[in-house]
Amino acid sequence: MARMIAPSLLSADFGHLADAVEMVNRSEADWFHIDVMDGHFVPNLSMGFPVIRAVAEDARKPLDIHLMIERPDDYIDRFCTEARASVLTVHYEACTHLHRTLQHIRQHQVMTGVALNPHTPVSVLEEILPEADLVLLMSVNPGFGGQKFIPSVLRKVEKLKNEILRLGLSTLVEVDGGVGLGNCAALFEAGADVLVCGNAVFSAENPEDVIRQMKR
Ligand code: DX5
Ligand code: ZN
Repeated sequence: MARMIAPSLLSADFGHLADAVEMVNRSEADWFHIDVMDGHFVPNLSMGFPVIRAVAEDARKPLDIHLMIERPDDYIDRFCTEARASVLTVHYEACTHLHRTLQHIRQHQVMTGVALNPHTPVSVLEEILPEADLVLLMSVNPGFGGQKFIPSVLRKVEKLKNEILRLGLSTLVEVDGGVGLGNCAALFEAGADVLVCGNAVFSAENPEDVIRQMKR
């Protein structure tokens, strides 16, 4: 089972973003997690194409882009080309034609991701799991970094992993929100493959060391 760490740049010091990117390049982290918010799907705004393009220029690891936006279809082509996504995740709650949306992402040879808000049950994925290379389980209500982990998500991770194994799929399970040294072992144990961490990494005195410890 993969045990990957994807630091979320949302918690980085935006005045020194290049340093944060370099830190992640140097570290044992696997992916860059990039949070895109539109002020509609979530009550916050974050970064757009100019910032992501600048990150992509310097990043030497894959970009895992998490779209917390309404009408993601309007921007898929640009996220897959200009923003150089390796994984592009859309929210189940934001997509009326999720199958079409995932096919659109796959046409770009980009990994497809589906995110579920904390209130959305894993069972809604039954018909779409084969089209998803990754499922992102939100373990906080999306919109902000630095929130408290919702403990019931641990059981949700187990449930999802069991379903993936039952269907013989290789879909990755990603957990996003409130993840840190205190819960990473339990999450990997429950079946998570990728852990996103913002605050736990970027507010640490030694971010690289936190990433190293989380992977152990
Ligand atoms: C929240 C974002 C997360 C966030 C995680 O809406 O999707 O990726 O940056 O930050 P922490 O790890 O601080 O909860
Ligand atoms: Zn995220």
